[in-house]
Amino acid sequence: MGESRLLSRAEALELGPGWRHACHALLCAPCPGRLFGRVPLRHAVLMQMRFDGRLGFPGGFVDPQDGSLEAGLNRELREELGPGAAPLSLAEGDYLGARCEETPQRLVAHFYAKRLSLEQLRALEAGATKAKDHGLEVLGLVRVPLYTLRDGAGGLPTFLSNSFVGCAREQLLQALGALGLVPEAELRRADAASGNGP
Ligand code: GTP
Ligand code: MN
Ligand code: MN
Ligand code: MN
Ligand code: MN
Ligand code: MN
Repeated sequence: MGESRLLSRAEALELGPGWRHACHALLCAPCPGRLFGRVPLRHAVLMQMRFDGRLGFPGGFVDPQDGSLEAGLNRELREELGPGAAPLSLAEGDYLGARCEETPQRLVAHFYAKRLSLEQLRALEAGATKAKDHGLEVLGLVRVPLYTLRDGAGGLPTFLSNSFVGCAREQLLQALGALGLVPEAELRRADAASGNGP
């Protein structure tokens, strides 16, 4: 997967009818705990293991009946995360950017991020097995390790060496930087150490 260009919401909406639109979201919460009583967890960031064995964010294709990008996103979040996602109601203000991919089909991937309280995020995790798509399109939620262990590989670098769907890996790196969840220098080191970059 090559580098993809970032577009604004308006630019992405001006693309012609040959493009399909999908919306995905990063949900996160501050997480004060320490792993082994020592390593700060920083934040809880949610991704999911998908039916195809790749990691991605909750969300999906926007259908014509949805009416707007955000309506499509909120419907997909309910299908994939369960009824507990209904109150999240992501909005235009949660927009981070769009990327387009020409292959295997013309797709605009819109990306959102929203900060929750740790209580809200834990409630989502607890209800996720009740989602319509649980066990089908969604095999489980995972938290992203944001730390790097002493060996320089364990944690975020090893997580980044997984297989990601579409440009989900770039979206993850973008959001971790933009939301200040991981310091930029550490993010670049983890990206390089993963042996999975572009
Ligand atoms: P169906 O109900 O089977 O259509 O699935 P869906 O609507 O949930 O769609 P899905 O989430 O699989 O994503 C729609 C498109 O976006 C597909 O082409 C995926 O390859 C791609 N995609 C899936 N997850 C992500 C993601 O986290 N980031 C990006 N950039 N693309 C993704
Ligand atoms: Mn143990
Ligand atoms: Mn879906
Ligand atoms: Mn989906
Ligand atoms: Mn869908
Ligand atoms: Mn579906």
